[in-house]
Parts: sequence; structure tokens; C-alpha cells
Amino acid sequence: MKRPVAAVVATGRSAPDTVMTNHDFASIGIETSHEWIFERSGIVERRVAKKGETTASMGAAAGRIAMERAGVQPGEVDVIVLSTATADRLLPSTAVDIQAKLGATRAAAFDISAACSGWLYSMTTAEGLIMSGVAETALVIGSEKMSAIVDWTDRSTCVLFGDGAGACVLKRSKTGKGILSAFMRSDGKLAELLYRPDGGATTPFSAEVLEKKSHLVRMAGREVFKHAVRSMSEAADRALDGAKLTGSDIDLLIPHQANVRIIEATAKHSGISMDKVFVNVDRYGNTSSASIPIALDEAIEQGRVKEGSTVMLVAFGAGFTWASMIIRF
Ligand code: ACO
Repeated sequence: MKRPVAAVVATGRSAPDTVMTNHDFASIGIETSHEWIFERSGIVERRVAKKGETTASMGAAAGRIAMERAGVQPGEVDVIVLSTATADRLLPSTAVDIQAKLGATRAAAFDISAACSGWLYSMTTAEGLIMSGVAETALVIGSEKMSAIVDWTDRSTCVLFGDGAGACVLKRSKTGKGILSAFMRSDGKLAELLYRPDGGATTPFSAEVLEKKSHLVRMAGREVFKHAVRSMSEAADRALDGAKLTGSDIDLLIPHQANVRIIEATAKHSGISMDKVFVNVDRYGNTSSASIPIALDEAIEQGRVKEGSTVMLVAFGAGFTWASMIIRF
């Protein structure tokens, strides 16, 4: 097991106040039912941003809480790493908007695009910056306004996603606690199973794109499901191997919150019983790369992550990307 170099000092989260339940889809003309959504995904409700609530505003709010709890002043942050698939603008990064909101004037700030695995990619990147001596204190945020990129007329996708943000302060570890192992992998051949076809530099936004709604999320749900189960299981194995641990050493598994059936399959593969798995997909839906930091913050708040806990984080997302991390608290 490697010596931990970076440790989570504190976490925070922020989600819109507006709750949309499964029953509320009827009011926007979507032919679905609570039973269909709940049986297939475990989702009961999700948060949806109001006008004026943005990826930057939610991310800054989560980051501010994490900094306050860590006792870190904005001027002490060396780097802000934001994972998002829902940047507020295409240029510049949303991380710089968060930097401005927080007044973190000394920080370098940039976005990472790895869809639902993005926060673990960001944590691994921040750990590397700390390891190399470039940074001492990092603010690692996942913030997503999925409601802005789903097709609200496509019942096979719009019922699954939600908005929110989570964050943590990551600092050089002097205590022996911190990140024990990390793993990341991608497979770009499968990009078109979950993507936004148009609206980027290849096919810029146009009246035709708008009419086809091809700037919005398209997903081959069944295929994504199969790959998610396989890849999250592999990611869990790799994180455990890297830390020289087994499933029985894990006090809490916090998987990406996309679908309770994927979560159950991942836990079963690693021999981790469901009472050691954190699930909040019922209340948030899939908040993409915000899902793990939101869940981690709630798990700490509920006392399920304590001093000395060994926690495994596992994610899968568009790309495809998949990633994992084991942290000793
Ligand atoms: N309400 C009612 N019926 C629906 C709905 C809905 N919201 N959406 C689809 N249906 C219908 C379909 O039209 C289809 O009807 P048909 O058989 O008459 O054609 C039927 O339900 C079955 O559809 P499937 O897509 O085959 O249903 P499935 O059992 O695969 O469940 C689901 C769909 C929930 C999307 C599942 O495939 C899944 O969870 N996939 C993984 C998705 C995911 O987690 N993505 C995110 C991971 S990566 C990331 O987080 C970015």
C-alpha cells in the first residue's frame, strides 16, 4: 500500500431547493409512472435548478461549505479542479467562474470532462498536483445542471437525471490518512452510446440542431447498463488491488448514483453487503459527476464515514469512462 499523499479535510454539497418527484412528470406531459421509474432505477425524486441557478453557483456554494469546514481561506487554495459535463459556457471554463465567486485569487482553475466519472478523475488529478509539489491545497468540485442538457420530451432519459454539486478540500497528508489507491480508464470507441451529438465545434449550434434536439443527451440505456456493471466491477477490483485490500476491509462503498440495480451489482461483485453501501439515488437521481461528492458529504454528515473509515468510491460514465478510489479517513 502506498503512503497517502493527499487527504480529504472537509466536504460540502449544494442542491437546488426545487424537488421534482416521479409523479410530477405527468404535469409536463411525460407518459411515465412512479412505478416504472422506481423499479428500473430506484429514483423517487430529483432536484431541478431554477432560473439563475447555474453549474457555477451550485459548485461555488458546495466549495464554500467545504472550505469553511476545513478552515481554509479562499486565498489559501492553490487549485480548483471542477468536473462537469454541463459547463455554463463553452469558453472559458466554469472553474474560473467558481474561482471568481469564491475570491480564490491565488488559485489555478480548470474543468475536467469525464462525465459521471469526472469527480474521481478530478480527485486523481488534484492528488497528482499535490504529489508533484505544484499544489498544497486543492478544492475539488463536481457540479452538474443536468436539467439543462436532457431532452424533456424523451421519457427514457429525462426521468433519470438531477442537478446538484459536491466538493471537498484535498490537502497534503501529514497524518498517514488519505488516498490509498486510484484507478481511471476510458474507452472512446463506445462514445456514441451516451452523448450529445451536435452543438460542439464539429456541428455548431444551428436552427437545424435545435429542431432535431441533437444538442441534448442521447443514451442507449440497455447498452450503458451492461457496460456500467462490468466496468464498475473492474474499477472496484483495481482500487482494492492497488490498496492491497479486499471487499471485507471496506467500511463503506460509495458508488456513482445512477441506478440502484447497477449499485447492487457492483457491491455484490466486491462481496460488500448492501448495509455497507451508501445510496441516495432515490432523492437526487443521477447528478453525473456531482453524485459521489454529494453522497460522500451526506455519508459524513450521517456518521457513516468516521475517523479511521476506509471508503471505496466507484464511478462509470459517458466516454465511456470509469474510475475508482480508496480513501482512509
Ligand atoms: N416510463 C415508462 N416507460 C418507459 C420509460 C419511462 N420513463 N422510458 C422508456 N420506457 C419504455 C420503453 O419505451 C420500452 O418500451 P417498449 O418495450 O414498448 O419499447 C420499455 O420502457 C423498456 O425500455 P428499456 O430501455 O428496454 O428499459 P430498461 O429495462 O433497459 O431500463 C433504463 C431503462 C432505466 C434506462 C436502464 O437501461 C438503465 O438504467 N440504463 C443505465 C442508464 C444509466 O445509468 N445511465 C447513466 C450511467 S452513465 C452516467 O451516469 C452518465
